[in-house]
Amino acid sequence: MVVLAAAVVTKSGKAVLSRQFHEMQRSRIEGLLSSFPKLTSTGQQHTTVETEHVRFVYQPLDELFMVLITNRQSNILQDIESLHLFARVVTDICRSCDESHILRNAFELLCAFDEIISVGYRENVNLSQVKSSIEMESHEERIQEIIAKNKEQEAKEELKRRAKQFEMQRKEAQKRGQGFMQGNFNSSSSYSMGGGYGGGGAYSPALDNMPSMRESPSSYSRSASATPSATSKARGMKLGRKAKAADLFEAIKPDVEEPLLGAPAATNHKTVNQEGVHIDIEERISVTANKDGGLEQIDVRGVLTLKITDPDNARISLALQSSDDTSIQFKTHPNVDKNAWKDQKIVQMRDLSRPFPTNNNLEVVKWKLITRDETLMPLTITCWPSPSGNGTCDVNVEYELENEALELREVIICIPLSAEPTADVTQVDGSYVVDRARRVLEWQLPVINSSNKSGVLECNIPGDDANGFFPVTVSFISDKLLSGVDVISVSNVENNSETTFSKEIYMAADDYIIG
Ligand SMILES: *[C@@H]1O[C@H](CO)[C@@H](O)[C@H](O)[C@H]1NC(C)=O
Ligand SMILES: *[C@@H]1O[C@H](CO)[C@@H](O)[C@H](O)[C@H]1NC(C)=O
Ligand SMILES: *[C@@H]1O[C@H](CO)[C@@H](O)[C@H](O)[C@H]1NC(C)=O
Ligand SMILES: *[C@@H]1O[C@H](CO)[C@@H](O)[C@H](O)[C@H]1NC(C)=O
Ligand SMILES: *[C@@H]1O[C@H](CO)[C@@H](O)[C@H](O)[C@H]1NC(C)=O
Ligand SMILES: *[C@@H]1O[C@H](CO)[C@@H](O)[C@H](O)[C@H]1NC(C)=O
Repeated sequence: MVVLAAAVVTKSGKAVLSRQFHEMQRSRIEGLLSSFPKLTSTGQQHTTVETEHVRFVYQPLDELFMVLITNRQSNILQDIESLHLFARVVTDICRSCDESHILRNAFELLCAFDEIISVGYRENVNLSQVKSSIEMESHEERIQEIIAKNKEQEAKEELKRRAKQFEMQRKEAQKRGQGFMQGNFNSSSSYSMGGGYGGGGAYSPALDNMPSMRESPSSYSRSASATPSATSKARGMKLGRKAKAADLFEAIKPDVEEPLLGAPAATNHKTVNQEGVHIDIEERISVTANKDGGLEQIDVRGVLTLKITDPDNARISLALQSSDDTSIQFKTHPNVDKNAWKDQKIVQMRDLSRPFPTNNNLEVVKWKLITRDETLMPLTITCWPSPSGNGTCDVNVEYELENEALELREVIICIPLSAEPTADVTQVDGSYVVDRARRVLEWQLPVINSSNKSGVLECNIPGDDANGFFPVTVSFISDKLLSGVDVISVSNVENNSETTFSKEIYMAADDYIIG
């Protein structure tokens, strides 16, 4: 059977929602749907009508119709069975089947439709399976996760900002207090630094001064919140931004729109000549470490995207390899054979007689790894500020490549300059720039690999607050992945011969924060 489209239409034939499973122009589907009411007879629960080219299988949904458009060779009994499932899914997702409810739930509905029919063919699923796979993919939940994470991050930044502001107020108060008291009386009692600030009259000058005091803490927090993209190089900026946007797309995109959105990877880095079978393997890594360089958490997310443009090579299977780390959690697309994946790391269609859809970016495997295992940390950074007693700090920053199998490129280590946007660099491997506008010192290293696995930067920076040189942020890209996921070979299942393919492997650090 071949289902060409599944739609919800009004009694007058206006499409409220339609999912085409075959390439079809908008005018064509709209034409078909608007012609459909004229062909129907009233009063029947579900029925079918045929035209010269297609068959409509439909049933009323309150004031609307659920309609499947199939070709005329399609198995009508199966189609009616599918129709029922569609109708149940719609009534299940929308409490009331009117136009506004359908529209409000359009996204969920389209996702569900795609669970029922894939490239025109019925998936072997029932209502509860459709529901559970939508929940599994729960886009809303993923958005919530991202929002929650951002909030947490903001709260952290706010806390840091406050602490910083507090610290500066304290210093200012101390300075003013001293100045004030020198000319008056010398009583250490009014100092009581541990206590609050609301009290002692001696502090009011500092409080009056608060608006101007805020200036530097807030610019500090601005640069801190921009940390993932903390680099003035356009490339770095792009990376950070892209990543965020990609995440959101990731969270909200229904599979149906993949061709529109494309793989975020493709535009991001050098592109190879793509063969008829092309594979993108992309990993994004976030790391939080404390001021001593100790690891708090590594979070790795990866996706393998398959793009087939050669229809002769659409029935294929991919042999993968990955590191043996059992804490990597893999997830395959619902249409991918789960057992072949589990047993042999082979990616192929659940139904081997079916080709992979062509000209689509198919996210066939995804994985994530959340760990506190220090040995997986790509790069450790230690930043040692030591106050030199004259209002400056000698800052010593070191990097060390922990995982020698990796090669990191375009590494940028970004150190905040919270007191004054200057730095006197006395020694550096690689190069550096002081970005006065963003108040950061950027240490740039084109390549870090095993033949170049450590390096130092030594400088003297204004400011005697050692905490002011945190958080240090790091960005880089790499052709090697932490998960070790790679495609070894691709074979055509029709004749069991190897197929040529192209691949791109890419890792980027999204949020790599120390301190
Ligand atoms: C749906 O299918 C699954 C797996 O085949 C089965 O376990 C479940 O009982 C079915 N649910 C219904 C409501 O038929
Ligand atoms: C005033 O206090 C400061 C700091 O506590 C101290 O160093 C200084 O000797 C005091 N001066 C007088 C006149 O007591
Ligand atoms: C296997 O089939 C594919 C697709 O039809 C074709 O391109 C390829 O040349 C075939 N390989 C062999 C060894 O016959
Ligand atoms: C502060 O001391 C450091 C070394 O201890 C020196 O390099 C720097 O020039 C000094 N800065 C000022 C402003 O005196
Ligand atoms: C190591 O990297 C640094 C910074 O990229 C560079 O200055 C240095 O020449 C490199 N050394 C080797 C041996 O590649
Ligand atoms: C490390 O990178 C440098 C610069 O690109 C390169 O010359 C060197 O061969 C690399 N070392 C290894 C072990 O790959």
